[in-house]
Amino acid sequence: MATKAVTNGTFSPYNAHVPGAEPEVCALDAFRLAVASKLTGPLSLSLEKAYEGVDLGKKGADFTVAVPRFRLGGKPDTWAQKVVDEFQPDEWVESATVEKGFVSFMVRTQTLAKKVLTQVHDLTYDSPSGKPAYGCNNSGKGKKAIIEYSSPNIAKEFHAGHLRSTILGAFLANIHRATGWDVTTINYLGDWGKQFGLVAVGFERYGSEEALKTDAIHHLYDVYVKINRDGDPEKAVQTAVTDFFKATKEEKLAKEAQWEKLRDYIQQAYNESYAVHDAAREFFRRMEDGDESAVAQWKRFRDLSLERYKQSYERLNIEFDVYGGESTVSQQAMQEVIQKMTQMGIVEKGKEKKEGATLINLEKWKLGSPVLQKSDGTSLYITRDIAGAIERYTKYHFDKMIYVAGAPQDMHFAQFFKVLELMDLPWAKTLEHANFGSILGMSSRKGTAVSLDHILNEAQEVMHEQMKKNDAKYANVDDPEKTADEIGMSAVKIQDMASKRINNYTFNWSRMLSFEGDTGPYLQYAHARLSSVQRKTTDAGLVLPSDVSKINTDLLTEPGARAIIYLLASYPDVVRMALKTYEPSTVVTYLFKLSHAISAAWETLVVMGQEEELAKARLWLFICAKDVLAAGLRLLSVRPLEKM
Ligand code: ARG
Repeated sequence: MATKAVTNGTFSPYNAHVPGAEPEVCALDAFRLAVASKLTGPLSLSLEKAYEGVDLGKKGADFTVAVPRFRLGGKPDTWAQKVVDEFQPDEWVESATVEKGFVSFMVRTQTLAKKVLTQVHDLTYDSPSGKPAYGCNNSGKGKKAIIEYSSPNIAKEFHAGHLRSTILGAFLANIHRATGWDVTTINYLGDWGKQFGLVAVGFERYGSEEALKTDAIHHLYDVYVKINRDGDPEKAVQTAVTDFFKATKEEKLAKEAQWEKLRDYIQQAYNESYAVHDAAREFFRRMEDGDESAVAQWKRFRDLSLERYKQSYERLNIEFDVYGGESTVSQQAMQEVIQKMTQMGIVEKGKEKKEGATLINLEKWKLGSPVLQKSDGTSLYITRDIAGAIERYTKYHFDKMIYVAGAPQDMHFAQFFKVLELMDLPWAKTLEHANFGSILGMSSRKGTAVSLDHILNEAQEVMHEQMKKNDAKYANVDDPEKTADEIGMSAVKIQDMASKRINNYTFNWSRMLSFEGDTGPYLQYAHARLSSVQRKTTDAGLVLPSDVSKINTDLLTEPGARAIIYLLASYPDVVRMALKTYEPSTVVTYLFKLSHAISAAWETLVVMGQEEELAKARLWLFICAKDVLAAGLRLLSVRPLEKM
């Protein structure tokens, strides 16, 4: 193959077919191949082998090769020296230097500029899919991924964990699509279980049709909180005691009679609190049996809540292909699971408190003994997950399935993955749990715990205030409220994705919403500023030729320009890395670096008032930088702003 890549003594990376190298979508790979071609002769290596050893450079070098890794025998230093001695510069690679067993290479700036900017431009405005595709690759081509995220519980609060799952999940969906995977996204709603019985019982007591129609999520949550209080024996008894003293204050009862009456109060409260749960269980039982009126009531709660959730998702720029949920897992599938495991002899009957329940013993793997079926025959969260996974495999035949949920559920996922494995399902090992740490103290600025909508509204408000401070700019923004909302959401999202997902972080209003420092608003600002350069130069009559090959990129000689070009070239690498680690912080960190490099270049790479050819080359560089910044933001589900 290496022979095909060399014609008339010059190496052509585009003809070298090396696994993993995609020069047609990653210009940096072309340079990696060119560097590898400098190793094959002196080290007698195949191009494939040499390519594996080409790493991004350290200490200012473009690429570095650690010669010891090739295990050539003899002294690596000697081999490294040989590479440098035989080195011939060419169109791609300019110089090689040696330090002990390490050879560092610099690539030719003019070639780098031309290849990278052309690639960014072509793949942004003229990609085969018709959509901007710089940074994308085909590594997942032909493979199917199911990604499940957000998955809030209807009638319970949408908590910080759901927000993180939503943001991280959207990112994982985007990055898989960007790397060629066929992705189906699922929102697995917590829409089944005894809590629905509780809500139904609560709704009879505290519900209002009107409140349900205006804001189902908050109303049902409200009802849920109230009925839970009624169902809590401790609280019920406390209330009963208070009531007793109130009621008997005026009465002059004998001690005995007083005691008796108090006992009655307590007994009644106690019974009533238990009755709440009996009624809830009974309601859920009816739901599982398919009782029409119970199911109809449940469906109304679900539909109205979902309508509200969909509004929030749209606001957040997040979509799902499928709105599923625990309710969609079939009874039959769950029964089959239990039967199969019973046959396999891994199922036990519960004792003592778990009398009558069916459980599975996973002690051998230190995974406890989760209950699969309660004594009254109703199903459980884990059973639904096991059966649900089987149903999904039957439907989608996925190559992998990712569940995005917080680290507190590590045990749950380990248990249910293990059960599938014990059932000898070969695809069980393709299931993954993408976990994450907690957001601490997600509350409004006044300190009260609130819902997702409150958080987003508050972020929007603060941004709007901030924008109003600059009259001239404010007047220039088309829809300030919408813009403020976008900036606010960028703030929330970027804060969330700025560090490793497993880390806990503290929700910090002032840090998050600042325009300085590494924040969402800062990235939006960097993008808006580049957009404004593009508008202003166009207004001044500086327009790039439609045939961009006419732009003289050789004029981009400043170190600041090279730094930006090299960063643009690394974007496809960043995407690859983020796919491997499922870490959006890889992308966030990159975007900060890029934005810093751009802002450092404003003074040295002036566009306006320059000689035309130079002005055009610099403008093109900035437009390419803007396109890559936008691509990165979109990958993070952030909508890049043109003006702010
Ligand atoms: N609804 C669950 C919760 O809020 C999260 C669901 C995670 N996904 C799953 N397949 N269990 O805790």
